Amino acid sequence: MVRSLIAAICLAFALPAFAQVPATGQAPVAPKGIKLPPQTKPPSNRWLEDADSDADRFRKLEIYLRGFDQPMLEVGQRYLALYDAIKDRNWGLADYQWDKVKLTINGGLMKRPARTRNAESIFLDVAWPAMDKAIKSKDEARIREQFGAVRETCMECHEKEKVPFMNESPLFRTTAGFPR
Ligand code: HEC
Repeated sequence: MVRSLIAAICLAFALPAFAQVPATGQAPVAPKGIKLPPQTKPPSNRWLEDADSDADRFRKLEIYLRGFDQPMLEVGQRYLALYDAIKDRNWGLADYQWDKVKLTINGGLMKRPARTRNAESIFLDVAWPAMDKAIKSKDEARIREQFGAVRETCMECHEKEKVPFMNESPLFRTTAGFPR
């Protein structure tokens, strides 16, 4: 009670400071760390509208939307959420996460089509439907076993796509088995 009162008072004093970000007094510049298309207008918060052409706008979006890494980050999170859902025997959530994994990988392939062959032959056409069927069966033993197979295929694709170091990580260590 006292703690939350103190927190509320602190917030009340801090808020006005957040409400208005003080101007730095420096002119905005394009970042050096990114190859943006050159543009006539000086950089501003209207980062898309400011571009010289739609082609440049699309290029900016392509840069911003990244390649395969961001979808994979999401796949990693959902894979872990699937693992937890299986531990909780929450088949509805498991099914939800599994659908999103497929959607996310396909979205990544749209951006990085060179990865499609391995993604489909190793994962989407084989491991994905097998896990989907297992989840829908609600057979716990089958689901747990299939999860192990999924884990293997994630790691196999990392080997084939030349990022084997992804497999030496807590994500794949902690999901190596289920508690009894
Ligand atoms: C096409 C084969 C392929 C499949 C299938 C695949 N991955 Fe990946 N994964 C990659 C590649 C390639 C990268 C590195 C991306 C990059 O360099 O931009 C990666 C990166 C990752 C990363 C690191 C993301 C980051 O930037 O921090 C995680 C986590 C990950 N994958 C988890 C998984 C999991 C979990 C599965 C299975 C459910 C899976 N991956 C299936 C190819 C694959």
